[in-house]
Parts: sequence; structure tokens; C-alpha cells
Amino acid sequence: MDILQMMVQAILFILPSYFANSIPVLLGGGAAIDGGRKLADGGRVFGDGKTVRGFFAGILAALLIGSLQAVFLPGTAWDIYGGNSATYVYAGLLLGVGTMIGDLAGSFIKRRQGVARGKQSVILDQLTFLIVALAFAYPVASRLITVEAIVFLAILTYFAHVSANVIAHRWGLKKVPW
Ligand code: CTP
Ligand code: MG
Repeated sequence: MDILQMMVQAILFILPSYFANSIPVLLGGGAAIDGGRKLADGGRVFGDGKTVRGFFAGILAALLIGSLQAVFLPGTAWDIYGGNSATYVYAGLLLGVGTMIGDLAGSFIKRRQGVARGKQSVILDQLTFLIVALAFAYPVASRLITVEAIVFLAILTYFAHVSANVIAHRWGLKKVPW
């Protein structure tokens, strides 16, 4: 498979996860998932940045993108799941759930490290959600999750995350540019 094709397929594959990761910035808010609870180390379980609304908005966003892909991609040159529309929807759901759980895991580790909510943490901010999303999607997308695709997506996600946050900051959607 040539490298350009691998990149295009990887981007189409990961799209639901990227939406899941960014929609909570717009639609999140309200009650924190951890209900304000702290662990024995004195830090919050996840912190105020992880809300119930944001969690479900992220999953629904991924499901929506997967469903749109199911409508538009089968039978085209962009088809990544062999024409099977149900797989797109299922992959969207798995990527959404994996992304939001990975996002929680990242915040959990940040709180254990004493990193305050909203403070930057390279790797944890950008790559935890990606790795967990890939693991969740593996049962339906193992063909797409090659070593090359993982390396490409890790690099792409890092730069996409950095630039998206700079833009969100400039538009006044986020207080800090990360
Ligand atoms: N968000 C949310 N619910 C989630 C995830 C995110 O409401 N489950 C919203 C919050 O408003 C959050 C914003 O999206 O502030 C950005 O998400 P993120 O950068 O992941 O959270 P941080 O506030 O930076 O917190 P943390 O330090 O825990 O990463
Ligand atoms: Mg953040």
C-alpha cells in the first residue's frame, strides 16, 4: 500500500475520534464526572474539566461522524470498511467511547502527578485518548491499525491538537492556548 493511501485511510478512520475529542470544548460544562471527589493523594479524581455532558457529547459526536461516513463512503474510493455501512457506525461508537475514556485516563494521571486542571501535559493531553481509541476500535479496524498508521496518527494528532488549541484560544473558546 502506498504511503499516501495509508495516510488518507488513517485520517478517515480517526475522524470520529478527533470530533469526540474537540466537541466537549464547545458542548461540555455542568456537573463534573467525579462529582468533586478527591482521592487519598488530595487530588481530584478527574477534575472540573471532565463533565458528564462533555463525555456524552463526545461519544455522540463520534457516532454522528461514523454514521455520516456510513452514508457517504461505502462504494467510493474513500471506502475503508469494504462497503459495510454498519462497520462505520460501530467504529464511530467504539472510537467515541475509547476517546472519552482515554481522555479521562489522561486527566486521572495528570491529577495523580499534581498537574492542575487545564495545565498542559504533552503526551497525556494528545496521545492518551488516541491510544485508547485505537485499542477500542481494534476489533473492527485491525486492518487499518498498522504500525505505520499508528506512527502517522501519533504525529498528526500531536500537531492537530496543538494547532486546534491555538485556534480555539484565538476564537475565545479556550482560556489557554493548549
Ligand atoms: N470537557 C468536558 N467534558 C469532558 C472533556 C472535556 O466538559 N469529558 C470540556 C471542558 O470544558 C474542558 C474542555 O472541554 O475544560 C477542554 O478539555 P481538556 O483539554 O481535555 O480538559 P482540561 O480542562 O484541559 O482539563 P485536564 O487538565 O483534566 O486535561
Ligand atoms: Mg486541556
